[in-house]
Amino acid sequence: MRFKKVLCVLLTAAVMTGLAACSGGRQPSPAPADNSAGASAAADNTDGLIVVGFSQVGAESDWRTANTKSMQETFTADNGYKLIFDDAQQKQDNQITAIRNFIQQEVDYIVLAPIGETGWDTVLKEAKDAGIPVIIVDRMIDVSDDSLFTCWVGSDFRKEGDIAVAWMETALAGKEKVNIVHLQGTIGSSAQIGRSEGLEAGVSANSGWELIAQQTGEFTQAKGQEVMESILKQNSQIDLVYCENDNMAFGAIDAIEAAGKTAGINGDIVIISFDATHAGLAMTLEGKINYNVECNPLHGPRVEKLIQQLQAGQTPEKLAYVEETAFDAATITQADIDARAY
Ligand code: AHR
Repeated sequence: MRFKKVLCVLLTAAVMTGLAACSGGRQPSPAPADNSAGASAAADNTDGLIVVGFSQVGAESDWRTANTKSMQETFTADNGYKLIFDDAQQKQDNQITAIRNFIQQEVDYIVLAPIGETGWDTVLKEAKDAGIPVIIVDRMIDVSDDSLFTCWVGSDFRKEGDIAVAWMETALAGKEKVNIVHLQGTIGSSAQIGRSEGLEAGVSANSGWELIAQQTGEFTQAKGQEVMESILKQNSQIDLVYCENDNMAFGAIDAIEAAGKTAGINGDIVIISFDATHAGLAMTLEGKINYNVECNPLHGPRVEKLIQQLQAGQTPEKLAYVEETAFDAATITQADIDARAY
């Protein structure tokens, strides 16, 4: 596949034509994409499709489900791709195995949504040695050599945290003491690191804010609920819960209500959340989440644009940040929710 792609670029440069016969062209094909196969499926019979191996973190949240859907709806045979999708079930070892399988199958591109930032150097060196471009999506990686990945597209997670803290500073202005519970995402993921740094900077800058509990809920509703139940038993005065995603917010709200307290705009405890999924925004409209900072999961078309740039012999921007917004329970409308694709 890669030999044919190089040949294609050369021919295109020489005569500005010839894409039709080239593997890697964006031509419709009657062959259906197998986008649910595991990483061990062979990347053969591609019928001129661009083969993309995608290692996904898992299915821990509504955000992740929307992200998987966006990738699967983009990388179809009709669009000129064969997608080999691998769900790592929240384990970095599984992601490393998937990448090695993609290399063995000689895919054209590897797309990695990394669970955590560290631990990628060895396997990405193997991909580089095999000559396969690696696109990082969503969270960032921390590698010793930036040439181990071609480019990255995702969110500015620290900015998301800062946006939440700016809202808190306005909404809580004048309160002498604010007892804060912090439900963190998967420790070591960029989403956790950036959002946690934002809150911790806010706590340092606001003398009345006290972090009374800080624990991971692993970005899942069940763990968010379990952790919040235990924190509620140990702390009688909680003023605000900073949940690093919508699903943990749902779990925390369930725990708060089960403990006989109320959450949100007219409640005992202020709720901050991230993602702004449909379900998260419905809870914001209902007033149970006070403020919801968007984290946009619709990366399929963004990754495709990067691949098309590479196919055309261009050099995409190394880092591309997605523009994001935030929703306040005091001003959100049903139209805001209806206008959103996830
Ligand atoms: O990396 C993005 C984060 O991962 C989302 O905020 C969270 O819901 C997901 O699991």
